[in-house]
Amino acid sequence: MIEDKKVTFRPMRKDDLDSVMVIDRLSFSMPWPKSAYLHDLINNPNALLRVAEMDSNSSSSQLVGMVDTWLILDEAHIATLAVHPDFRGQGIASKLIELVLLEAHEKGASRAMLEVRASNHAAQSLYNKYGFVIVHRRPRYYYDNKEDALLMNMDNLEDWVKSARLVELRKATF
Ligand SMILES: CC(C)(COP(=O)(O)OP(=O)(O)OC[C@H]1O[C@@H](n2cnc3c(N)ncnc32)[C@H](O)[C@@H]1OP(=O)(O)O)[C@@H](O)C(=O)NCCC(=O)NCCS
Repeated sequence: MIEDKKVTFRPMRKDDLDSVMVIDRLSFSMPWPKSAYLHDLINNPNALLRVAEMDSNSSSSQLVGMVDTWLILDEAHIATLAVHPDFRGQGIASKLIELVLLEAHEKGASRAMLEVRASNHAAQSLYNKYGFVIVHRRPRYYYDNKEDALLMNMDNLEDWVKSARLVELRKATF
């Protein structure tokens, strides 16, 4: 779907941070501080910070999505992922996940995990599509509304990477 729309996927830069903060604040009740992104950009060589940028008709472009994934030994931990509300439902999060999982695998990850709010059915559905399954519930994990967190794991990164669709994806890597 997004192929027609000129979306570029690339590493995050420092000058993206204001736009990243806008998406973060529109997407989460507990947004990250700018310093958290800055830390990962500058001080965390194991953080894969990637963005989706949409070209507009004019010469300008707009940041429409981002993902931060930490590589911890053989595990890819999707720390945050969000798409600007005006650009949801176009496959942008799917592409961000696919590209970052592929890149994490190339850097040595064999599995992936993340935490998601129990009420966030849209995100759970997204992760389910990639084979993530709920393995644990952390009661009252989120301090703003005492909501439970669900821990979702994907143990078959190797198998997923072997799937035929990734041949196309490799052409679009970050
Ligand atoms: C969750 C989020 C990242 C999805 O982004 P997106 O670009 O709209 O997602 P996609 O278009 O790639 O959708 C992929 C899948 O996600 C699921 N999904 C996305 N939006 C959904 C919705 N509103 N309701 C139910 N499922 C939804 C579907 O399974 C969908 O697959 P389908 O199109 O085959 O039905 C986006 O809604 C968002 O930024 N939400 C706020 C931040 C957030 O919750 N991040 C995840 C934290 S763990």
